[in-house]
Amino acid sequence: MALVKIASVDELQPGQMKRVRVEDADVALYNVGGRFYATSDLCTHAVASLTEGTLDGPVVTCPKHGGRFDVRTGAAVHLPAFSPLRTYEVHVRDGGIWIDADDL
Ligand code: FES
Repeated sequence: MALVKIASVDELQPGQMKRVRVEDADVALYNVGGRFYATSDLCTHAVASLTEGTLDGPVVTCPKHGGRFDVRTGAAVHLPAFSPLRTYEVHVRDGGIWIDADDL
Protein backbone atom coordinates (compact mmCIF):
# COMPACT_ATOMS: atom_id res chain seq x y z
CA MET A 1 0.00 0.00 0.00
CA ALA A 2 1.34 3.41 -1.01
CA LEU A 3 -0.93 6.04 0.50
CA VAL A 4 -0.87 9.45 -1.13
CA LYS A 5 -2.47 12.54 0.39
CA ILE A 6 -4.95 14.12 -2.01
CA ALA A 7 -6.51 16.83 0.17
CA SER A 8 -7.01 18.12 3.67
CA VAL A 9 -10.32 17.40 5.38
CA ASP A 10 -11.03 21.12 5.77
CA GLU A 11 -10.78 21.75 2.01
CA LEU A 12 -14.14 20.18 1.28
CA GLN A 13 -17.39 20.95 3.06
CA PRO A 14 -20.38 18.58 2.99
CA GLY A 15 -22.00 18.69 -0.44
CA GLN A 16 -18.79 19.76 -2.18
CA MET A 17 -16.54 17.91 -4.60
CA LYS A 18 -13.27 18.57 -6.31
CA ARG A 19 -11.00 17.05 -8.93
CA VAL A 20 -7.53 16.02 -7.84
CA ARG A 21 -4.75 15.01 -10.20
CA VAL A 22 -2.97 12.00 -8.69
CA GLU A 23 -0.08 10.69 -10.70
CA ASP A 24 -1.69 10.21 -14.15
CA ALA A 25 -5.25 9.89 -12.91
CA ASP A 26 -8.03 12.44 -12.38
CA VAL A 27 -9.74 11.54 -9.13
CA ALA A 28 -13.04 13.03 -8.00
CA LEU A 29 -13.25 13.55 -4.27
CA TYR A 30 -16.64 14.07 -2.62
CA ASN A 31 -17.84 15.07 0.83
CA VAL A 32 -21.22 13.44 1.44
CA GLY A 33 -22.55 14.46 4.82
CA GLY A 34 -19.08 14.55 6.33
CA ARG A 35 -17.91 11.27 4.81
CA PHE A 36 -15.42 11.26 1.98
CA TYR A 37 -15.60 9.18 -1.19
CA ALA A 38 -13.41 9.05 -4.27
CA THR A 39 -14.08 7.88 -7.81
CA SER A 40 -12.67 8.38 -11.24
CA ASP A 41 -13.52 11.90 -12.40
CA LEU A 42 -14.15 10.72 -15.95
CA CYS A 43 -17.74 9.81 -16.77
CA THR A 44 -18.08 6.26 -18.09
CA HIS A 45 -20.55 7.34 -20.78
CA ALA A 46 -18.34 9.71 -22.76
CA VAL A 47 -15.68 12.30 -22.07
CA ALA A 48 -16.79 14.59 -19.26
CA SER A 49 -15.50 15.66 -15.87
CA LEU A 50 -17.99 14.70 -13.18
CA THR A 51 -16.71 17.35 -10.80
CA GLU A 52 -17.98 19.93 -13.30
CA GLY A 53 -21.47 18.55 -12.71
CA THR A 54 -23.55 18.67 -9.56
CA LEU A 55 -23.56 16.70 -6.34
CA ASP A 56 -26.88 16.04 -4.62
CA GLY A 57 -26.48 13.87 -1.54
CA PRO A 58 -24.50 10.83 -2.70
CA VAL A 59 -25.43 11.26 -6.36
CA VAL A 60 -23.26 13.10 -8.87
CA THR A 61 -24.84 14.23 -12.12
CA CYS A 62 -22.69 14.41 -15.21
CA PRO A 63 -22.68 17.87 -16.84
CA LYS A 64 -22.71 16.49 -20.38
CA HIS A 65 -25.78 14.24 -20.73
CA GLY A 66 -27.17 14.03 -17.22
CA GLY A 67 -26.05 10.52 -16.34
CA ARG A 68 -25.94 9.93 -12.59
CA PHE A 69 -23.76 7.86 -10.30
CA ASP A 70 -23.84 6.95 -6.63
CA VAL A 71 -20.41 8.09 -5.49
CA ARG A 72 -20.46 5.68 -2.52
CA THR A 73 -20.45 2.63 -4.77
CA GLY A 74 -19.69 4.00 -8.22
CA ALA A 75 -22.94 2.51 -9.52
CA ALA A 76 -24.62 4.18 -12.47
CA VAL A 77 -28.14 5.10 -11.32
CA HIS A 78 -29.51 7.07 -14.26
CA LEU A 79 -29.22 6.73 -18.03
CA PRO A 80 -27.48 7.35 -20.31
CA ALA A 81 -24.74 6.24 -17.91
CA PHE A 82 -24.84 2.50 -17.32
CA SER A 83 -21.27 1.42 -16.54
CA PRO A 84 -20.04 1.97 -12.98
CA LEU A 85 -17.32 4.38 -12.00
CA ARG A 86 -14.07 3.17 -10.62
CA THR A 87 -13.95 3.83 -6.89
CA TYR A 88 -11.03 4.33 -4.55
CA GLU A 89 -10.88 3.51 -0.88
CA VAL A 90 -10.46 6.69 1.15
CA HIS A 91 -8.44 6.92 4.34
CA VAL A 92 -8.81 9.88 6.70
CA ARG A 93 -5.95 10.45 9.07
CA ASP A 94 -3.95 13.33 10.54
CA GLY A 95 -6.36 15.87 9.03
CA GLY A 96 -5.73 14.56 5.55
CA ILE A 97 -7.55 12.49 2.94
CA TRP A 98 -5.49 9.72 1.43
CA ILE A 99 -5.95 7.08 -1.23
CA ASP A 100 -3.78 4.15 -2.18
CA ALA A 101 -1.69 5.01 -5.24
CA ASP A 102 -1.51 1.31 -6.02
CA ASP A 103 -5.25 1.43 -6.79
CA LEU A 104 -4.82 4.02 -9.54
S1 FES B 1 -20.70 11.97 -20.75
FE1 FES B 1 -21.58 11.67 -18.79
S2 FES B 1 -23.62 11.07 -19.19
FE2 FES B 1 -22.71 11.33 -21.16
